[in-house]
Amino acid sequence: MFKLESLRSGYGRTEVLHGVDLVVPDDGVTTVLGHNGAGKTTLLKTVMGLLPARSGRITWDGEDITRLSAHQRVRRGLAWVPQGQQSFGTLTTRENLLVVAEAHPGGRGRLDEVLALFPALEELMERRAGLLSGGQRQQLSIARALLTGPRLLVLDEPSEGIQPSVVQEIEEKIVGLASRSGTQVLLAEQKVGFALNAADEYAVLATGRVVRAGRADEAAVDAAREALAV
Ligand SMILES: Nc1ncnc2c1ncn2[C@@H]1O[C@H](COP(=O)(O)OP(=O)(O)OP(=O)(O)O)[C@@H](O)[C@H]1O
Ligand SMILES: [Mg+2]
Repeated sequence: MFKLESLRSGYGRTEVLHGVDLVVPDDGVTTVLGHNGAGKTTLLKTVMGLLPARSGRITWDGEDITRLSAHQRVRRGLAWVPQGQQSFGTLTTRENLLVVAEAHPGGRGRLDEVLALFPALEELMERRAGLLSGGQRQQLSIARALLTGPRLLVLDEPSEGIQPSVVQEIEEKIVGLASRSGTQVLLAEQKVGFALNAADEYAVLATGRVVRAGRADEAAVDAAREALAV
């Protein structure tokens, strides 16, 4: 179980997270919902160790990882898909995949299964990542993260700027990953529909705290919309 307790974080003199409590269960998809500026990216960066926690605790299977570097967290099985489909734009799709595959033990051995999950990438192998469409770049970004063989995949707004049909395809892959390979997924979203379709558990982030959380069942849609309206 991945757990955040009273987590505080921010930038310079500005505190953005004022004590976040969140439990990410061992399987399935957990979604953090929140408006623009609610602190979703700040939360995920603190989870990844890209931003230091000011106080509070992050534990994973009972181990306190609050003070570990991002690198150490990745070695323990965290993987990060940043907002905005970032990859190395001047490198080709193939080079982007190989850079990650070679930097992680077992990465090369995972290439075939990752490409089987995103077959669209096969035809784009020699194209520079900077020339890919938003949806293609998002798939490349997720594929890169999967090459590290993560136990917990952290995605920041994977549906942002992507057309609905591709969003649905990406959603299906994420749900499939969580159910078939047992990879835990933590994702941030603004779109309630996408977020709750894909999710098993949800939490609503507002004013730097989790204001509502629970199972992502039918009742959750109204509950989440109500919490977001505050
Ligand atoms: N590097 C930074 N320096 C200072 N303030 C920042 C920085 N990054 C974000 N902030 C501020 O922190 C707050 C939370 O931002 P954050 O990016 O976490 O929101 P978000 O929920 O991810 O929003 P979005 O849905 O637009 O991505 C905002 O008020 C933002 O202006
Ligand atoms: Mg964000």
